[in-house]
Amino acid sequence: MAASDRQAFPERVFSGVQPTGNLHLGNYLGAIKRFVQLQERFDCIYCVVDMHAITTWQDPKELAGQIREVTAAFIAAGIEPEKHIVFNQSQVAEHAELAWVFNCIARLGWLNRMTQFKEKAGKDRENASVGLYAYPTLMAADILAYKATHVPVGEDQKQHLELTRDIAQKFNNDYADSIRAHGHGDAFFPLTEPLIGGPAARVMSLRDGTKKMSKSDPSDYSRINLTDDADAVAQKIRKAKTDPEPLPSEEKGLESRPEADNLVGIYAALADVPKADVLRDHGGAQFSAFKGALVDLSVAKMGPIGSEMKRLTADPGHIDRILAEGADRARGMARETMAAVKDIVGFVRPR
Ligand code: TYM
Repeated sequence: MAASDRQAFPERVFSGVQPTGNLHLGNYLGAIKRFVQLQERFDCIYCVVDMHAITTWQDPKELAGQIREVTAAFIAAGIEPEKHIVFNQSQVAEHAELAWVFNCIARLGWLNRMTQFKEKAGKDRENASVGLYAYPTLMAADILAYKATHVPVGEDQKQHLELTRDIAQKFNNDYADSIRAHGHGDAFFPLTEPLIGGPAARVMSLRDGTKKMSKSDPSDYSRINLTDDADAVAQKIRKAKTDPEPLPSEEKGLESRPEADNLVGIYAALADVPKADVLRDHGGAQFSAFKGALVDLSVAKMGPIGSEMKRLTADPGHIDRILAEGADRARGMARETMAAVKDIVGFVRPR
């Protein structure tokens, strides 16, 4: 058993969302909606990861607006910045500092296996930024700067969280003597648990049930954006790809029907019920009828979030104050971790 499994760490949630534009239903159902629910049970830290965003080109004229938009989405969805912490990553320099230490812990072989880098870099890998390659070590730093024990994410982030555990484990092992000598017990970092699950852990494109719903899909009809109005939502759902069969009454009937499975999953996640319940109520229905019900549900659930986002983004000063206050509180915690890491590694620092 690893030392970090034996040692208890206080429970804490951390997660992040990139401000790269086009926040969509996948981000909401796979991540943000679950961030809101976890506030009941945990101390939560939610971060707008702007330093991750610039691993691919972001227009400086747009980026600040995108950062405020993700912050507005958090708050509009129900995240409470007074009780928990909401901030943007670049305001807490310790993330970058800890990421450097982790660059020296992570092995090239580990990063070479990251599928997200391969997907994002595409064929022109030589031209990808070094930041895109090192992306997962910064993500590990985000999480471990706060010794977070639980991280809610969509399915696509699973491999990055496994890497975070590998980094924590190797740090704990490589520096075991120093960790003990500095009075931190058997393990300095927890082995963070991913929280992935529910009917919307992987929301798929509305145009192709085998492809993930994504910000970067060239077709806007592939996704529902959080800022879409009711007409756009209705149009996108009505045009969504389906197959000719009616809906099955049991989950088994969704196998090898990716588009049907996706729409049922979206309905279930929006309604907060298991997929089996949706099929019990809608089994045997034609898609035209089911899509009508899905439009009504989506507009009822997403409409208020979209309009609240608009209201909040109209006052950028208010959002900036929330981010600055959140960053002050986050910085206090991250500084403490970073000071201890410096001692453990053997750096000299003022006392
Ligand atoms: P990002 O910004 O790409 O996505 C934000 C969150 O949305 C989830 N998600 C989805 N969930 C279900 N279906 C989809 N189609 C879908 N698309 C996106 C993502 O899994 C994610 O939870 N690397 C992260 C950001 C990050 C982070 C962190 C997360 C940086 N540091 C530390 C957790 C902890 C990312 O790119 O998310």
